[in-house]
Amino acid sequence: MNAPADPPFDLEQTDRLLSTTRAVRRRLDFDRDVPDQVIFDCIDLAEQAPTGGNDASRRWIVVREEHTKQRLGEIYARNGSFMTQVADRLDGTGHAKEEVFESSAYLVENFAKAPVLVIAAIWGIHDNSGRPGLFDSVIQAGWSFNLALRARGLGSTWTTLLNSSVDELADILAIPEGVTTIVTFPVAYTKGTDFNPAERRPAEQITYFDRWGFTRAQASTDGGTHLTDGQGVVAEVDIDAPPAKVWPVVSDITFPATAGTELVGADWQGEPGLGAVFTGHNKLGDMEWSLDNHVTAWEEGRVFEWSTIDPENPGGRWRFDILDQGTGSRLRFSMEIGSTNNLTVDMAAKSDTPAKVINSRRKMLRANMQRTVEAIKAAVDGPAD
Ligand SMILES: Cc1cc2nc3c(=O)[nH]c(=O)nc-3n(C[C@H](O)[C@H](O)[C@H](O)COP(=O)(O)O)c2cc1C
Repeated sequence: MNAPADPPFDLEQTDRLLSTTRAVRRRLDFDRDVPDQVIFDCIDLAEQAPTGGNDASRRWIVVREEHTKQRLGEIYARNGSFMTQVADRLDGTGHAKEEVFESSAYLVENFAKAPVLVIAAIWGIHDNSGRPGLFDSVIQAGWSFNLALRARGLGSTWTTLLNSSVDELADILAIPEGVTTIVTFPVAYTKGTDFNPAERRPAEQITYFDRWGFTRAQASTDGGTHLTDGQGVVAEVDIDAPPAKVWPVVSDITFPATAGTELVGADWQGEPGLGAVFTGHNKLGDMEWSLDNHVTAWEEGRVFEWSTIDPENPGGRWRFDILDQGTGSRLRFSMEIGSTNNLTVDMAAKSDTPAKVINSRRKMLRANMQRTVEAIKAAVDGPAD
């Protein structure tokens, strides 16, 4: 990360706090009490977060009484019983979500053991009006509360399972009508304080510049659109089927994936896999040509990436990612325009407004790539009802 020369905060510490504040469940220390003062301090810090209209309508309920915690724990266990079932099903399978469900199931069984349960609530009822209001006036404070806990050696998990039993919750805690509970934090000191950053998608993949789906592989030095910054395009679609069903279509190079040209055919030179080459035969009007594509990433069921012409200096880098969404898959089709991309580089070089050339090319690519992922979805899911 590029830090400013003279940042007003210690960025190493700040960034460590921001990147290692995890959902803590199995490492909550249920045997160590949490002083009220620590909770007050963390709430004071959390209250520095903004509210819509600056109307100071958040309220915090700290539950310490054993029998009250027990009652909340029973509701949590009832509402979270599906987590235990999923955890049992995933146990030992190596599934991507095995660990999170095992950890969640642990919390389902031990929720009431946390020394304190802290509920963040707000005056108001959600009316779907879109006006600044409930969730959007609590969430930022909730996260600040978590960060303040972490900085003091405590931890928690953002939990929402009690929210599906608001009447019972209101009854137990005497919450008046007109108040919405948003989140419940089981708070405790953590067993050890070494937590790691989680694996998340890098900013370059999920940040779009000026138009939906327009990516940039490198930060531009002046914020402008230059080919040297790896200008790209993304198209995504959700598919009802699991990755194993999506993969055969995604890795079928004869499937008519299109960048605006007609795919006449494609054949592998050797076995499909990392480092392999396949040749695509394209047609556009009267023009016909063949292009070698080098497979630069290949993970069955997950990733298929290829670079055109020269993998070290490609004309374009194309990539399919299949994300396991639990109930289905999200298919992401991305491409990055390379510096040897004849069409775009030539056109951009000859133009007074190269950014415009690049963007109109991206618009065309995005439309075609969106068509491609929709076609893959139709091939996997079958026609829409
Ligand atoms: C809106 C929201 C609701 C959540 N609800 C629950 C919950 O009821 N129970 C639970 O154990 N975790 C819950 N979580 C925690 C997520 O499962 C957790 O953030 C995720 O596993 C990622 O863990 P990490 O933040 O440590 O990377 C919730 C998180 C959010 C943002």
